[in-house]
Amino acid sequence: MRARGEERNEMNVATEASPILPAWPDGGVTRVPYWIFQRDDVYAREQERVFQGKSWFYLCLEADLPEAGSFRTTFVGDTPVVVVRDNDGEICAFENRCAHRGALLCLDEDGKAKQGFTCVYHGWSYDLKGNLNGVAFLKGLKGQGGMPSTFKMADHGPRKLRIATIFGLVFGTFSDETPPLDDWLGETIISRIARVLEGRKPVVLARYTQTLPNNWKLYMENVKDSYHASILHLFFTTFELNRLNYKGGLIVEGGGGHHVSFNQLDRAQLDKAYSDQNLRSDSNYKLKDPSMLQGFNEFPDGITLQILTVFPTFVLQQIQNSVAVRQIVPRGPERSDLNWTILGFEDDTPEQRLVRVKQANLVGAAGFISMEDGCVGGFVQRGVAGAPHLPSVLEMGGSSTQSSESRVSEAAIRGFWQQYRDLMGL
Ligand code: FES
Ligand SMILES: [Fe+2]
Repeated sequence: MRARGEERNEMNVATEASPILPAWPDGGVTRVPYWIFQRDDVYAREQERVFQGKSWFYLCLEADLPEAGSFRTTFVGDTPVVVVRDNDGEICAFENRCAHRGALLCLDEDGKAKQGFTCVYHGWSYDLKGNLNGVAFLKGLKGQGGMPSTFKMADHGPRKLRIATIFGLVFGTFSDETPPLDDWLGETIISRIARVLEGRKPVVLARYTQTLPNNWKLYMENVKDSYHASILHLFFTTFELNRLNYKGGLIVEGGGGHHVSFNQLDRAQLDKAYSDQNLRSDSNYKLKDPSMLQGFNEFPDGITLQILTVFPTFVLQQIQNSVAVRQIVPRGPERSDLNWTILGFEDDTPEQRLVRVKQANLVGAAGFISMEDGCVGGFVQRGVAGAPHLPSVLEMGGSSTQSSESRVSEAAIRGFWQQYRDLMGL
């Protein structure tokens, strides 16, 4: 029998899009080489094997597509994508790329397409399923010019994605080999999405994009990193929303790439664990307006904070009553866009909606959590600039990728790298 490392090296083969890459360092997923966040050839291979490969990608909400013709544009990796509800009520998605000479087909973020989409460049048109159904001057003019008789519209069109939905979330994949979405997620992750979204109709309260000065994988490391949350974020600890000694857990699922970190706020549990560590986050700051922190009872299981990821790019957030979905989009090796959609629910009272918005502001890009996460991603990207062949150390909680009650663990980050390496052949 061959060692796993040998098999990986055989998969680390050059393709048109990516030449052979350096070998992964010794130490398995407890070591991550910094070149993985820097190289153009890694980025190119990700586009081919991760983003065009066998994974599901969050695209939008079903609520974004209320009626026939409603559309949203988004990205799967670098690839621009249109998601649209067709006249049969089905959700369709296809590349946002004209089959003629490649122009964007749809220029808006969202809207309503009556019949379909028409490319502005030379007027080729497409139905709501992405099928080419019109070519301007197909037969030329006065018997001259036009397309040859061998040209068939059915042979041309943007590539289509397979679509699956769960609890109002729309996922898509370019690969026929991606397993069904339910299998991809698994029962545990499904139940954890359900406890936030099942049985109610989400309403979009806000959207914004946070531009991050770092590789997309540094963000996914950060969001799976339950160890940092109560240390970096003064807000969490000071206002007693998340301490590592609260009752909770860390779940690692799928091929390692999905995770859930959760806890129950328990003020009775406050102890000396934090003051003994002498952390910046253990401060005497107080809010002038404590109403920012007053929520309402929403989740019968008492869980006050749950961060969930679906490999490779999706995050579902519940921090007290602030519910949001986040999608990370790579923008080159050293940049990414984090798209936030802040949610309420159809039967919220006005007071409840106000609480959600206040809490979302505390967490979001202009608040006390995600601003810091955006900064540290940039600190890492800049810190490792001259050290491509040195690795990070991921040994908190051991070397496994197993779920645990302790959140003083980097198991979910190791799990991400396990699944990533499998896909990338590294
Ligand atoms: S590029 Fe779209 S019609 Fe020519
Ligand atoms: Fe964070």
